[in-house]
Amino acid sequence: MARSERREVSELGDDGLCMTPESMLDLARRAAELLVERTENLPGEGAWDGDFQQELEKQLMEAPPEEGRPAKEVLERAAREILPLTGRNDHPRFFGFIPSSPTWPGVLADFMASGFHINQCTWLVASGPSQLELVVIDWFRRWIGYPEGAGGLFTSGGSAASLDAFVAAREAAGHPDGASVYMADQSHSAHVRAARIIGIRPERIRLLPCDARFRLDMGALERAVNEDRAAGLHPIAVCANAGASSTGAIDPLGEMADFCEAQGIWLHVDAAYGGFAAVTERGKELLAGMERADSIGMDAHKWFFQPYEAGALLVKDVKTLEHAFAVRHDILQDTIWGANHPNFSDRGLQLSRSFRALKVWMSVQTFGMAAFRRAVSRGMELAEQAEAYVRESPVLEMLTPVSLGIVCFRVNPAEAGLGEEALEEINKTVLARIFWDDRAFVSSTLLSGKFALRFCIINHNTTWDDVRETLETIERFGTEVIEKGSK
Ligand SMILES: Cc1ncc(COP(=O)(O)O)c(C=O)c1O
Repeated sequence: MARSERREVSELGDDGLCMTPESMLDLARRAAELLVERTENLPGEGAWDGDFQQELEKQLMEAPPEEGRPAKEVLERAAREILPLTGRNDHPRFFGFIPSSPTWPGVLADFMASGFHINQCTWLVASGPSQLELVVIDWFRRWIGYPEGAGGLFTSGGSAASLDAFVAAREAAGHPDGASVYMADQSHSAHVRAARIIGIRPERIRLLPCDARFRLDMGALERAVNEDRAAGLHPIAVCANAGASSTGAIDPLGEMADFCEAQGIWLHVDAAYGGFAAVTERGKELLAGMERADSIGMDAHKWFFQPYEAGALLVKDVKTLEHAFAVRHDILQDTIWGANHPNFSDRGLQLSRSFRALKVWMSVQTFGMAAFRRAVSRGMELAEQAEAYVRESPVLEMLTPVSLGIVCFRVNPAEAGLGEEALEEINKTVLARIFWDDRAFVSSTLLSGKFALRFCIINHNTTWDDVRETLETIERFGTEVIEKGSK
């Protein structure tokens, strides 16, 4: 059967991979309708959906069709069978891991960047997008308090930013043998992975203990660096947390900067999650000292309300990044335009790059910074309200003070006198009940061996009712689990 006969009205152009303008618009309109409907319905739906591999395989594993199907049918199938089977990271009661709630202009910016088919690799190939990336990176530079001469690039996320930062650190140190890196045991696994990728041997990736509030212990850092130097190693980078993913902890950034300056070691700050708190006065105070780091990674797809992928790496001296990554290639010789015409492919690991800066720019242009500041502040306020609720609750216990929107707590009624093992079982059961109950999504962490329930409250759509109702549900489930266990 000829392809066009299978469709009521031919939606394809002459070339087998084109569509007519009418069907392009029709399909795009339907896609937009589906997304707007999803946004409207989201608060009333579950915060998670998913299925086991066996089930999904039955539904989806198939050979690619030889002949195409009507595009709307394909779109509807994706919207029904594939796209909803996820944690809804942007659901107002999704508190697990690090949520993300993109603004609509940000979503459309990704669509536009794809539609204009931007390859944000070099100035020659994408001068407008390159200038815009300079603009948005300069906004970030000002927000974090970096001097002029600092710069950077957009990356897929915090993992890629930390990898680029470690490469820059290693090159700045002269690529020594026996390189070692240092970070708190609370640091994100992305940094261990990045260190492995640049070839740091496992025993030279030093994970150091923290204080009672999960901030890097400076004494441990000094001892580790001294020991390693005495053993002939070359410390090339120290990684600080500006919002550790477990607790939101902020390492002693000023002291770490003093130490790294005195020792001549590159300081990288992982602000993937917490960095955008710097747009508020409060956040700026909490993150003071961050601006002294050699490099900073921050993810706009976390606390700056953008779709994935919107990471960024900033370095205090942009030349350090270009020194590490610029490689001459004959086929790209036409792309060298000289001073002030950076090729972003010379600043990181990607040559072909999507145009990530556009989403931040379109969102900020649309809503203005005051709205972003309010939304970031609101996350911190809701987390503090949650802390106050937990401290008042006869059923719940805080496990560490709130930091940057993260609340770690557990079910532990004071008068029940439960031991650690029992508490772990109870809290795991409560977490499983919350998971299957589906109205909210909560995840857990381990704090000094204690099993903790954890909320990360950074969605601009989350209300106090969302937080309170979820805490009430946890109290109720906790009480039921304890009562059932005692019978
Ligand atoms: C503190 C922190 N650092 C790094 C990362 C890794 O970032 P990405 O997932 O964007 O690669 C995360 C991810 O959640 C994070 O929370």
